[in-house]
Amino acid sequence: MTRLRQSGPAILFLVAVLSSYSSPAEGGQKTKKFPSTQNNTESEWQTPKEFREGSNEEMRMVGSDVAQRNQYPYMVSLAYQRNDRVYKFCGGSLITWNKILTAAHCVTESKSTKLLDPRELTVLLGAHELSGKRNDAQLSRNVAKIKIHEKYNPRHWFNDIAILTLQHPVKFSASISLVCLPAQGSTYMYDGRLAYAKGWGHTKEDGIASDFLRHVTKRILNQSKCRQIYKFNEYQDHMLCAYEPGKGTCQGDSGGPLVVKSTGPKCKYEQVGIVSWGIGCARQGYPGVFMRVTSFLPWIKMNTQY
Ligand SMILES: *[C@@H]1O[C@H](CO)[C@@H](O)[C@H](O)[C@H]1NC(C)=O
Ligand SMILES: *[C@@H]1O[C@H](CO)[C@@H](O)[C@H](O)[C@H]1NC(C)=O
Repeated sequence: MTRLRQSGPAILFLVAVLSSYSSPAEGGQKTKKFPSTQNNTESEWQTPKEFREGSNEEMRMVGSDVAQRNQYPYMVSLAYQRNDRVYKFCGGSLITWNKILTAAHCVTESKSTKLLDPRELTVLLGAHELSGKRNDAQLSRNVAKIKIHEKYNPRHWFNDIAILTLQHPVKFSASISLVCLPAQGSTYMYDGRLAYAKGWGHTKEDGIASDFLRHVTKRILNQSKCRQIYKFNEYQDHMLCAYEPGKGTCQGDSGGPLVVKSTGPKCKYEQVGIVSWGIGCARQGYPGVFMRVTSFLPWIKMNTQY
């Protein structure tokens, strides 16, 4: 029973694939294909130099992109349990002591709004290494409830957002803590800001998931630029796009957080996006697409009150 879609060599992206525990079974991977723009590799926002640097055929994370242990203590891995096996398949972020923010496509059947069975989901917190040999998660929690956005559109990835309620709240520590969200009512756009995505997803198309949490730096583009690149009505106001300047990587587990460094005194990082979809990698000149957190603040508030 597999939900993993075969993707062409050029369009594997935002890999949200379980795997390293054992062979893949279920996946939250989303790829999109826009054949008529496949040739448009020299999008003007990307300099030729950046394009060359990003033109590696293998989507490879370089070693220096392994995050530091506990660098992102709000980062969680969603795992799927079936037949006594555990598959990591998506990322998420801890936003209250018992709520996880992630992508709707991570917790629904493929191309459907049908929810996965929450009893089969496990949230791993405080992890750095998630490999076949070692799983150093400090805590794991079962999921009591899955809530996806009422207007989630599984064909077009609109409103690709979900909140999971954990069966038991977590205890905060050096390796487990909350990410900050933008203030209610914020309409700040983050144009040009540097942001960070991360994940344990595949480092190669055919490959093995990363053993360690990895991160990449991305630059957030303005909405008119994103709309220029994704011309097909797929790009909506409630999305955000960001690309990786000069890197040949396209990493970031689906459902995982895109964050910027916070300017406030209370938080180190502020979550501005949720990894959703994209095409190809930096090599092709296509930025990744994220749900724009500021567009969903009222929804998030409403669904984290209990
Ligand atoms: C891509 O470029 C090649 C050669 O430049 C051309 O033959 C082909 O028709 C183009 N494909 C699309 C989809 O534009
Ligand atoms: C958006 O960004 C592009 C370059 O990245 C720039 O040329 C353009 O002026 C910007 N547009 C707005 C409305 O800020």
